[in-house]
Amino acid sequence: MPENISRQKFLQYTAAAGAAVLLSSLESLAVETPQKKLRVALIGCGSVSNRYIPHLQTSSLIEIVSLCDIKYDRAVEQNKKYNVGAQTYPHIDKMLAGVPFDMMVTTTDMQAHGMLNKKALMAGKHVWSEKPMANTYAEGKALFDLAKSKKIRIWGAPAVVNSPQFEYMSKALQDGKLGRVASAHGQYGHTGPTWSAFFYEKLGGSMPDLGVYNMATLTGLLGPAKSVMAMLSIVKPERTVDDKGKIKVEAEDNAHVLLEHDKNVISHVMCGFNFFDPHGHEAGTQSLHSIQIYGDSGNMRLIGYDWETNGVVMDTSWDEPPKLVSTDKGGYVWQEGATKIGEALVTKVEPRINAEHALHVLEIIEAARKSSETGMKIKLKSKFPWPMV
Ligand SMILES: NC(=O)c1ccc[n+]([C@@H]2O[C@H](COP(=O)([O-])OP(=O)(O)OC[C@H]3O[C@@H](n4cnc5c(N)ncnc54)[C@H](O)[C@@H]3O)[C@@H](O)[C@H]2O)c1
Repeated sequence: MPENISRQKFLQYTAAAGAAVLLSSLESLAVETPQKKLRVALIGCGSVSNRYIPHLQTSSLIEIVSLCDIKYDRAVEQNKKYNVGAQTYPHIDKMLAGVPFDMMVTTTDMQAHGMLNKKALMAGKHVWSEKPMANTYAEGKALFDLAKSKKIRIWGAPAVVNSPQFEYMSKALQDGKLGRVASAHGQYGHTGPTWSAFFYEKLGGSMPDLGVYNMATLTGLLGPAKSVMAMLSIVKPERTVDDKGKIKVEAEDNAHVLLEHDKNVISHVMCGFNFFDPHGHEAGTQSLHSIQIYGDSGNMRLIGYDWETNGVVMDTSWDEPPKLVSTDKGGYVWQEGATKIGEALVTKVEPRINAEHALHVLEIIEAARKSSETGMKIKLKSKFPWPMV
């Protein structure tokens, strides 16, 4: 369940972000949901919809009323496959003019997110967006401001901050279990999606698809980044994908990103589409770590991935061996974001995931591209409510 924080605490957090934002609390949103269930419209009925649709269906507070895809057959197929009973549409404009709904869930090609999320917000719908919530930080910030002005809300994936392991690690850091924290590292890669070209086209790449998880985790644990330096490259200049055959790779498929946090803490994210990893898509049995954090009196490692967590190894003793702790996933799954946000809109309990955090990660991705192009260190301006737990 979403973290239960009071409205007052939420507003304090928001103020602490230093941003001139005052988000509509969930109690005061313009869009009321008097009906029992939150009505959801999902746009983009491709690969990830096979995880989203069944998860949304597990919630007694949510009803999927519309499915949309420009490849219309896909909307019809998913409606049938998951016995959704939704209306199906071939275009967002038709969906917005069709059956009424409260929240749009965006699971299309990454490059279309900003444009589609804007249309939904303009029509007064809340939005949960797969990452990234827009193509650029400026576009994302404009969406955030638009939502604020219309007293509705937008949120963006990933949902990594929801895991009990994130919570454990965050509390360990807040409690000083590692001593003076200095450095951290996160990595995530596999050999790249084979089904769609957009992952390799301009504004795609391994950062918004994969590195985004580690960036959300490391900033979530260590606080907002103040500046970014990066080296990005394209290792495989051509790929063959199901929807377009042989394509030229235009976005990075190999990224190393350095983040400077407050108090001289430095973290590093490494991601790519050329990493052999048998656990790249399913990590339930992964026993190795993907995130590590070092302080001067301890270190800790997240076993599995931040999107599929299998425990935390704590190493805080000169004499005792490292201990595997926090192995209970508590029901957390990476595809839960839209469901948890939908439920938060019904229960009016502020969730832990927040839009400023997703925007901050978007700014990091954009800054990493700029740093790699120019060889410069890029300063960031965005912040988010922190600590998150
Ligand atoms: N596939 C995964 O396992 C996975 C996991 C986590 C997150 N994601 C994210 O989910 C998103 C989708 O990825 P995917 O793998 O499902 O891609 P996909 O290519 O399988 O599906 C995308 C779908 O969106 C549709 N679409 C594109 N533009 C549209 C528009 N303007 N209006 C309506 N429909 C449109 C396409 O026709 C396609 O069916 C991406 O942001 C990706 O990063 C994917």
